[in-house]
Amino acid sequence: MKRAMRPAENGKLLFKQVYDYVISRIERQEWKAHHKLPSIRLLAQELRVHRLTVYRAYQMLKQNGKVYVKEKSGYYVCPSDPEQTLPEYGEHSENRPIAASGFLKNDLSEIHQVPVIYQFSQALIDPNLLPNLFLSEYVKKVFDSYPKLLGTYSTVQGDEELRDVLTRYMVRQLRVQLTASEMLITTGGQQAIDLLSRIFIRPMDAILVERPTYSAALDIFRQQGARLLPVDIYPDGYDLENLELLMKQYKPRLFYMNPTFHNPTGYTVPSAQRKQLVELAERYRCLIIEDDAFHDMYFDKPPPMPLFAYDTEGWVVYLRSFSKYIAPGLRICSVIGRRFVIEPLITAKSLADNGTPCVNQKIFLHYFGSERLQQHLEKLRIALQVRRDIMEQELTAAGWSWVTPQGGLNLWLKLPDSISLEKFFVESIRQSVSFVPGVICDPLREMHSWIRLSYSFVNEALLREGTRRLVDIAKRYK
Ligand SMILES: Cc1ncc(COP(=O)(O)O)c(C=O)c1O
Repeated sequence: MKRAMRPAENGKLLFKQVYDYVISRIERQEWKAHHKLPSIRLLAQELRVHRLTVYRAYQMLKQNGKVYVKEKSGYYVCPSDPEQTLPEYGEHSENRPIAASGFLKNDLSEIHQVPVIYQFSQALIDPNLLPNLFLSEYVKKVFDSYPKLLGTYSTVQGDEELRDVLTRYMVRQLRVQLTASEMLITTGGQQAIDLLSRIFIRPMDAILVERPTYSAALDIFRQQGARLLPVDIYPDGYDLENLELLMKQYKPRLFYMNPTFHNPTGYTVPSAQRKQLVELAERYRCLIIEDDAFHDMYFDKPPPMPLFAYDTEGWVVYLRSFSKYIAPGLRICSVIGRRFVIEPLITAKSLADNGTPCVNQKIFLHYFGSERLQQHLEKLRIALQVRRDIMEQELTAAGWSWVTPQGGLNLWLKLPDSISLEKFFVESIRQSVSFVPGVICDPLREMHSWIRLSYSFVNEALLREGTRRLVDIAKRYK
């Protein structure tokens, strides 16, 4: 396969991030109509960027009608266009509750809600590939073993029996020292990202995110008011020199990464970089959130050891969600970290929901410990590899470029610049094919000619038909 092109260089459009930052404060109504923006000097100091960068952002805000200038005084927020912006959240909607955040957004979830036949936007496993019958038999057994199951709350940190089993599993697999007290069970990986961001991010904090990355994580970080510093991910990992410069200059609080069968690209950060990444995190006191949602979804050989296995000082918090390939309906994720991460997380979890439902945890526990799980995983890996191959075969006629993933659920494709992605997307949806436009996975929102196609959700026949249809549609937009 052809190699994917490298995305734009880091920091190229820093002023655009400052622009987005100001817009987000306006949208969150922290800065209201006629509010005076901080002076250029002050904002440059706060965000640790050059004054010219802030000047360019302010100019662009002015051009786009977001702010106005008062001679010798400064920049002020324009009153919002009532037809354009969230009228139901506005100050003048007297008979409605006022949401404190008008900025809640989940781009990915909006795409998934469109009903289509050729579903290539959901990075989920085809339910027909999961052991549904087997699981439903199990449910009965679990209720027989714990007759009072529905009458009890789980502990906030997670079912003790489950944490014991998962701890032993992680100790064996990652060869680390670990106790069950260093693990928290969350309702999916998504909740873990959300809770971590509530604890570790304050508005305006700089954080590192891969470019591109899991778009729902970006939405969570934006909602928290974070300033996103992109770290390009390539088929052979990150540019560590550049990463170190970012850490030195911005002192980011955390780096959210998905280094194994990365979503959306499918790339895996090589083991040679993993130890160095942990050293950088220690040196610059930057917490690494290692999201390992696809660890067991490999094709030919298992992935390298997680970064967590190299961590001795507690700078890595490890998220292993089992939603994707064991039972999405149960939404079990284990979060592992040292005491100073897990303790505040338990408090955040107690505020969010007081614990993941007991029933889900017990059903998962019994399935996880069964031989059947191993057999299921082996079959699943083969089925997914076959689907990946089918999609790749059908795409060869398109002339797009991508790197064949060695695991995970997605293909990340570069389309010719001549294709207008917006029109292509609308027409594809109209013809019942969905995909994820790359731009929503990009913290800079610029990757207009990239798309993510998931090969895991629909059966082989639909996969062939849908991919052919997509290639045909694209031909018309050249
Ligand atoms: C990288 C990544 N992290 C987390 C999640 C969310 O996982 P869960 O379904 O366990 O909440 C996803 C789902 O697509 C994902 O791709």
